[in-house]
Amino acid sequence: MRKVKKAIIPAAGLGTRFLPVTKAMPKEMLPIVDKPTIQYIVEEAIASGIEDIIIVTGKGKRAIEDHFDHNFELEDNLVKKGKFDLLEKVKDSSNVDIHYIRQKDPKGLGHAVWCARKFIGNEPFAVLLGDDIVQAETPGLKQLINQYKETQCSVVGVQQVEENETDRYGIVDPIEKKGRRYQVKQFVEKPKLGTAPSNLAIMGRYVLTPEIFTFLDKHEIGAGGEIQLTDAIQQLNEIQNVFAYDFEGTRYDVGEKLGFITTTIEMALQHDDLRGELLAYLENVVVREKIVK
Ligand code: UTP
Repeated sequence: MRKVKKAIIPAAGLGTRFLPVTKAMPKEMLPIVDKPTIQYIVEEAIASGIEDIIIVTGKGKRAIEDHFDHNFELEDNLVKKGKFDLLEKVKDSSNVDIHYIRQKDPKGLGHAVWCARKFIGNEPFAVLLGDDIVQAETPGLKQLINQYKETQCSVVGVQQVEENETDRYGIVDPIEKKGRRYQVKQFVEKPKLGTAPSNLAIMGRYVLTPEIFTFLDKHEIGAGGEIQLTDAIQQLNEIQNVFAYDFEGTRYDVGEKLGFITTTIEMALQHDDLRGELLAYLENVVVREKIVK
């Protein structure tokens, strides 16, 4: 049985929804409390048993490489000051290997994944998007890997979204349900409102068989003028099953401004040293805004 050991994290997009901050700073480095978004994603991959990660980067993304590198000056300074708790936080203490590849032109998610094809070779692999943070008892990706172990087929993570949001996602047209797993008739990228076959949306977690590259090799342009991963998944689904799995846990959308702000608040509330004061502050804000009204 082939094991899922490698993961791709595409992080070469332009992040236009966060301009101007993303002009010089990668969207994936925006902090959620005290960690950049991409660190949550890397931690989920490690907790899911991934041994090698390849991050697809692009222009202006050097900060990502620096973040996962050792910073000897900083570490030395923290040792001298006896700040060992902080030292642990900045040191790369995991056993995972992180590699990088550049996507010279951000032609779309499908193209970003295609850029990592030589690193993947002929193995099943995972894809985790930096836009979605998943908090779950069993890590989101691990739930998909467990499904892969059972089926030996590609599996895409989905959750339900509101009907008026379906045009923002890849949507699945499910046929049959077994537990939380669906057999899928069709995968559609960003269907027009009112035309979506369901409200089950792809949430940035995938386990794919290497045959996906046969379709990504074609560089077909899809929705929004981009090379879409969903289109290649649909073509793969025509020659071998691609399942959708309604994973357990909370998914936070950090790819757009409001989602980013609410995620930051939710994560901050999980910090014991911030929770009390933040709650008091939020209560004050509500009272103040009501008075102003
Ligand atoms: P998004 O479409 O959400 O990211 O892609 P974006 O294009 O950077 O953001 P906006 O829409 O302009 O605000 C999802 C993930 O895929 C990566 C992004 O970096 C993001 O993590 N991506 C997207 C690539 O690596 N390359 C691409 O060509 C497109």
